[in-house]
Parts: sequence; C-alpha cells; structure tokens
Amino acid sequence: MLVTRQRVLRRFWYAIMPMAKLDEGPQPFTLLGEPIVLWKGAGGKPHALRDRCCHRTARLSKGFVDGDGNIACGYHGWTYDCSGQCVKIPQNNGTAIPSRAVVQAYRCEERYGYAWVALDEPLQPIPEFPEETAPGYRRILQFYERWETSPLRMMENSFDNSHFSFVHKSNFGLFDNPKPSKYEFRPNEWGFEAQTHVPVRNPPASHRVTGTVEEVTERHLTNRWFMPFARRFGCVYPASGVHHIIYNCATPIDDRTLMLSQWLYRNDSEEACSTQELIDWDRPITDEDRDILEATDYDACIDVRRQQECHMESDQPGLLMRRMLLKLLNDHGESEVFRVETEA
Ligand code: FES
Ligand SMILES: [Fe+2]
Repeated sequence: MLVTRQRVLRRFWYAIMPMAKLDEGPQPFTLLGEPIVLWKGAGGKPHALRDRCCHRTARLSKGFVDGDGNIACGYHGWTYDCSGQCVKIPQNNGTAIPSRAVVQAYRCEERYGYAWVALDEPLQPIPEFPEETAPGYRRILQFYERWETSPLRMMENSFDNSHFSFVHKSNFGLFDNPKPSKYEFRPNEWGFEAQTHVPVRNPPASHRVTGTVEEVTERHLTNRWFMPFARRFGCVYPASGVHHIIYNCATPIDDRTLMLSQWLYRNDSEEACSTQELIDWDRPITDEDRDILEATDYDACIDVRRQQECHMESDQPGLLMRRMLLKLLNDHGESEVFRVETEA
C-alpha cells in the first residue's frame, strides 16, 4: 500500500514531533508527502501550516515566531496567524492585506508531550493512552527517528510474535521456541486488542527491566492496534508485576519513509530501573526491528487473498489488520486501482 495514494489516511491524527523540539523555533515535517511547518504559538500551543509562504513560496520553516506567537517568513517577513491568514506585510504602509494572502492550516493538538496533526477532518480522535493519566506511571520518551520502511510494515511486525525467535534471538527471543501462542482478539471499529502470553529469555542485562532474575520469564501482552498506524505493546511481567507499556506511532512521511515515535510507561521508580537503563535495553531491540523492516518491500501488500503474506497460523493480527484496512480503503477509497474485494 502506497500511503500517499490513499486520501482517507489524511483523515487521522499523527504524532509529529516532541513538543520540546518546537522550543528551537519553527520545524519542518513531511506528512503523507505534504510539507508542513509546526511552531509553538502564544501560550505554548502548537500550530501547523503548509510549509510554503504564499508570497514567493519560501518555506515558512525557515522563518521565526514573532512576539505575538505568529509565524513570520524568513524571506520578506510576511506573517501568518494559526489559521493561516496573513496578518502583516512589512512592505505595506497600513494598506489592507489581501484576503487571498493565506496559507493552508491544519488541525494541530498537543497530547502525551507530542504535537499531533490531522491533514483533513479526522474520522477518530487522537488515540487514548490511559497510562498517561493513571496513577503510578512515568512516561519516558525513548526514540524519535526516521525509518526507511512503510508504517504498515511496522504495524504488522509489532503484532507478529514469531519474529522474536529470529530477529531478537540475541536478547529476549527464544530461538528454540519459534511457534508463538495464539492471540485472543477483541476487535473494535477502529482497531483491536490482542492478548497473549510469551516466554522470553531474561539475561542479566534485563533483570532490572523485567524486575525478576528468572532465566526464562513470561510476558503477558495486551496489545492494541489503533488504525491506521499506532499501537500499544502492553507488557506485564507477572513474576514482578512490572508494567512495560510501549506506544509506537509510525507516522507516514512518504511512501517509503516513516517517523517512529516510541514512548514508554513504567509503573516502577527511577531507582528500580532508570530512564537510561530503559532506553539502553530497548535500543538494540528497536534497531533489530528497524534493520529487518528496512530490508522488506515498503509497498506492503494488503490483498488478503495473497496467502504468501499470511505466513503461518500465528499471523492472525496481520490478517485482521489487512482486512480492516481494506474495508477502510474500500469504504473511502477514491482510486479504483487500489480497490480490492475482501474475501468471502
Ligand atoms: S516569500 Fe515569504 S515573505 Fe516573501
Ligand atoms: Fe521486534
């Protein structure tokens, strides 16, 4: 699926960048092939416009934020408010600003320490991550980085437990146990929840992460998929009661590139396992996923009749994901080329 060809994907919220990045001034981003600029306005609220000045097309991300929280172009100083209306033309001596002096504006909200953007009217609100407000959790921003793969590849991988024994065999994966247990599903209109239990290796480097010293321990996973490209990895280690809850947002930059945002909620203390230890533990695991996903074809097939993509009986999540995405595309699709009948 080439994401830029599916206009319905513009109708979802995407995590764009950590709010802290906006303290450095206006920032460029490309979302579904569309160049946008984000900045922090008055009161610290994030705003997003198309990254093109309507005067002589300079990128607004080369500009600056003025004292009123508006964004000023770095070329001749034309200044825009958060609705995209030009509010100042420094070269004019008080003459009216033409009403056509306007730049496309996008919905932009702050949530979970991130700026989120929806290009067109959203079909769904920003996904709910309940650990954000539940007592006893701390939030750790782990990774913010570009991957050369597609977000569907990232999503299918994140529910595909059969890759643990191979891709992650040098840390938690059990090479001799390649057949994962089945998931129990609870689908909803905009995704699903999938529960399962996974035995994992627990080398000394992970003892403080898992909260236990058993050689092999168990993860109780309650994972969630939020259509189209966000997921919860809801890991509880029953031996210790430690929660290791990861959220991944695979924000589509263009057809072959995504921005991975990964943050973690833990129900333990900094003394029990420090922020740096938690980043260091998940770093090589995330690199292993990235390495194998960047070796796949970014144009992920979503035709559920193509059995090669349904590689084994444990691949229920990938199949369900494809079925639901097909329904979304067929319900909202504009291009016949990408219409595929769901199987009987
Ligand atoms: S190009 Fe932006 S003010 Fe001239
Ligand atoms: Fe993985």
